[in-house]
Amino acid sequence: MLSQKMQDALNAQINAEAYSANLYLAMSAHAHSMNLEGFAHWFRKQYEEETAHMLKFVSYLLDRRGTVELKAINAPPAQWESMLAMFEATMKHEEHVTQLIHNLADQAAAERDHATSAFLQWFVSEQVEEEATVDSILQKLRTSKDSIGGLLVLDHHVGKRA
Ligand code: FEO
Repeated sequence: MLSQKMQDALNAQINAEAYSANLYLAMSAHAHSMNLEGFAHWFRKQYEEETAHMLKFVSYLLDRRGTVELKAINAPPAQWESMLAMFEATMKHEEHVTQLIHNLADQAAAERDHATSAFLQWFVSEQVEEEATVDSILQKLRTSKDSIGGLLVLDHHVGKRA
C-alpha cells in the first residue's frame, strides 16, 4: 500500500504534469500567433505528451488503490518575447520537472517502495530524452540568433514532429 506521503507526492506530480501540459498549450497558441505553425505543432505534441504523463500518474495511483486529488493548476504565461525565450523557458521547466521526478525517486527509495521506484524509472529516462530534444532545438535557435531565415528553416523542421 502507498504511504500517505507517497500518495501526496504523486498527486503533486499530477498537478505538475497538468501545469506542463497547459504551459506547452499556451506556447503552442503563442507560436501560432507568430505564424510559426511548425513550432505551434511541436508544442501541441508536447502538450499531448504531458497530458499522457499526467494520465500515467493517475493510472498508477488508481492501480495502487490511492486517491486521486486534483488541485488548482497555476496559470502559465500567455506571451514570450521570442522563440528563443520560449525554448529557454522550456529548458528551464524541463530541468525543474527532472528534479521533481528525482525527488520522487529518492522518496520511493527511502520508503523502500519498490513498485513506485520501478514505475518512476520510465520517467527518469523520459526526462533525459526530453531535455536532450529541447536542448538540441535551443542550441539551433541560439546559433541562428535573430535570423528570420534560420527560424523558418527550423519551423519547417520541428513541424515534422510525429
Ligand atoms: Fe512530463 Fe516534460 O515532463
